[in-house]
Amino acid sequence: MTDHEKVSKEHFDGMAENYAATDGTYYSPLPKISCDEIAARLADVEFGSLLDVGCGSGYLISILAGEHDALFSGLDISPKMLEKAAEKLASVPGVTLTEGRAGALPYPAESFDIVTCVMSFHHYPYPETAVSEAYRVLREGGLYILSDVDREGYGAPEEGEFATYTAASASELLRAAGFEVEESFSPTEKSFYVSGRKPRRAS
Ligand SMILES: C[S@@+](CC[C@H](N)C(=O)[O-])C[C@H]1O[C@@H](n2cnc3c(N)ncnc32)[C@H](O)[C@@H]1O
Repeated sequence: MTDHEKVSKEHFDGMAENYAATDGTYYSPLPKISCDEIAARLADVEFGSLLDVGCGSGYLISILAGEHDALFSGLDISPKMLEKAAEKLASVPGVTLTEGRAGALPYPAESFDIVTCVMSFHHYPYPETAVSEAYRVLREGGLYILSDVDREGYGAPEEGEFATYTAASASELLRAAGFEVEESFSPTEKSFYVSGRKPRRAS
């Protein structure tokens, strides 16, 4: 784990109680807005498995599990956030929570139909690796959804954060990893939403 990741882990361990109590709106409305946007866009999408990278206290999985009969995995660097997610998701079948790093996802290649990442990416000291790891664990035809703070509306990274992006620069990261970008827009002035499809290999 890098020094930057250690700072993230301690920071989120320290705020897990309050973060969970407010479904992520403790210090900003942005995580919940992005999670609700993702749930709305996936409402009519059928999928069998979804990984939420940087799942925090489990809000996104909790709403999706109420609407989709699928297997859900959540990964986070903060054990305290994962404890809160486990409490929130205790009654939801088919959920697996794992402590880990976005830069080295502990799953075999082609494990998931969908990978999401909400308001976590700006903490990663290895943006390209995080996107290529998402690509690796997605099945062919799988969907990656990345929603994060927007560099133009939110600004440069603050203490404990690593880098901020725009819908355009995040889309470039996805393309560089091999994704076909499907959606790229700003749900609010301070956030972006991009999604990319892992192409199917020609047979
Ligand atoms: C602002 S919270 C967002 C949580 C959740 N996605 C949501 O929308 O409510 C950011 C989360 O990213 C996690 N995180 C930060 N750096 C990480 C890394 N390198 N790998 C995995 N998770 C990380 C933090 O522990 C924290 O739970």
